[in-house]
Amino acid sequence: MKQKQLVAQAIVDATEGQLSLDEVMSKIEVPKTYDLGDYAFPTFILAKLYHKAPQQIAPELVEKISGDAFDKVQAVGPYVNFFIDKKAFSHNILNQILDQKEAFGQQDLGHGGNVPIDMSSPNIAKPMSMGHLRSTVIGNSLAELLKKANYNPIKINHLGDWGTQFGKLIEAYKLWGSEEEVRQDPINTLLKYYVHFHQVDEEHPELDDEARAWFKKLEDGDKEATELWQWFRDESLKFFKSIYAKLGIEFDSYNGESFYNDKMDEIVSILEDKNLLQESRGAEIVDLEKYGLNPALIKKTDGTTLYITRDLAAALYRFRTYDFVKSLYVVGNEQTNHFKQLKAVLKEMGYDWSDDIHHIQFGLITSGGKKLSTRKGNIILLEDVLNDAVDLAKKQIAEKNPDLPNKDQVAEEVGVGAVIFHDLKNDRLNNFDFNLEEVVRFEGETGPYVQYSHARAMSILRKAGQIDLENADIAGLQDEGSWEVVRQLANFPAMIKRAVEEYEPSVITKYAIQLSKSFNKYYAHTKVLTDDAEKNSRLAMVASVAAVLKESLRLLGVKAPDEM
Ligand code: ARG
Repeated sequence: MKQKQLVAQAIVDATEGQLSLDEVMSKIEVPKTYDLGDYAFPTFILAKLYHKAPQQIAPELVEKISGDAFDKVQAVGPYVNFFIDKKAFSHNILNQILDQKEAFGQQDLGHGGNVPIDMSSPNIAKPMSMGHLRSTVIGNSLAELLKKANYNPIKINHLGDWGTQFGKLIEAYKLWGSEEEVRQDPINTLLKYYVHFHQVDEEHPELDDEARAWFKKLEDGDKEATELWQWFRDESLKFFKSIYAKLGIEFDSYNGESFYNDKMDEIVSILEDKNLLQESRGAEIVDLEKYGLNPALIKKTDGTTLYITRDLAAALYRFRTYDFVKSLYVVGNEQTNHFKQLKAVLKEMGYDWSDDIHHIQFGLITSGGKKLSTRKGNIILLEDVLNDAVDLAKKQIAEKNPDLPNKDQVAEEVGVGAVIFHDLKNDRLNNFDFNLEEVVRFEGETGPYVQYSHARAMSILRKAGQIDLENADIAGLQDEGSWEVVRQLANFPAMIKRAVEEYEPSVITKYAIQLSKSFNKYYAHTKVLTDDAEKNSRLAMVASVAAVLKESLRLLGVKAPDEM
């Protein structure tokens, strides 16, 4: 950034103030290839002013620019190309990183504002799906990124612990359940009942009526229904927490759908007061035609409430509790319509803050191109995925580095990290296919590859022995090989900004892969530990790469072992 400003200032000076700094800044380009310099200024905007062809203007400007701050300034056609002073630039950036360490890239975009993040939010008595995994890891990474940009994220697990499915589950349990069986293996057993219910009710629709009746009882506070529900919830949550522990992710709140039970009457009465509720075939709806949306169903014929009613209560509760600057919902794109309706109803209720609600959507994870669904029972269980990934990592470590100390812990960090990294690698809106072998590979654009690059940098530093880099003279580097790496290091703060503004952790994933590639390329051609005048600067660069890779991984929720 500073360098670009330097370039812009040079143009402003050379044009004797005919253009403003902002104007010039907005025109400066980064050429595709290095032979055209680090920055380029297109002279087209000066053609009218000077009554000359841009090709003529470019060399005249070059004449007027004093070369001190740059390695070289050159006219190529209508462009003025700047080659910035690599040594000065890398001197600056390397010292900055050594100085700030993991704080490098920190910036104040959020001024401390609260941002609730609705994330993970699995459904009680069902296994966590790969979709919930996506929500969990995207949400967690967004929280870290927001923190880095001085927002205050609040991670909320909006558990699916209420709704008609509990009627189904209770009905299924009453029909076929055994307490013994549930105690032994709660999630799988409850899932089995649930899947069985859906198989049977296709031929016995009367079961659906029974299920609805149970949910109604639950909403009315019936003792038996409540006890069963509480039991299912406790067992499920215990299990979910074991997965979160494995992923290294914590929540600030587990206020799920049931938390809003006593907060829904208020929603209904606000809607009534504002004349927004309409009756439609016995049910209560809010018409959303002017938004081009289907009506929002607020209350069913039997008086039971719905998913969206609970979300309305949750939105209002979050606004009152956190006075948020924005409120995020990390939920798959199959719920796009739901969140459009939610925002529209809030808008109708007169809440302008509905504009600060953002549905952070993401695509599906497929397996062999097929959608995964709990109803059909063809799910990949998240715990299996994580365990398999760790096993694969173990195998690879046994081959590559059999003497590694604390192998098991490293395998855990690599295996779990690989799954998280893979999940964050693609633009979140893309669907992607999950293939474990590919995810845990040590080569290619994977988490283990980035972790390995970090570990390699750490090993170079170990080999260098005790060097006090913080007090050494880091003069800077100017060779082509290091330049690629240095430029990318300098780009880290801008990447964080972009990731935060686009709610897109993949910006950081891609960045970490790029930085790893450049570093490995550099390392293949350069002897870092040769004793010469630039050794300290090279080591400073290696230390900076290690620090920035580690911080990138941390922002993604992935550990960076020092050795692997
Ligand atoms: N439990 C829901 C599901 O698994 C996701 C909840 C998302 N959050 C929300 N506030 N609606 O589909």
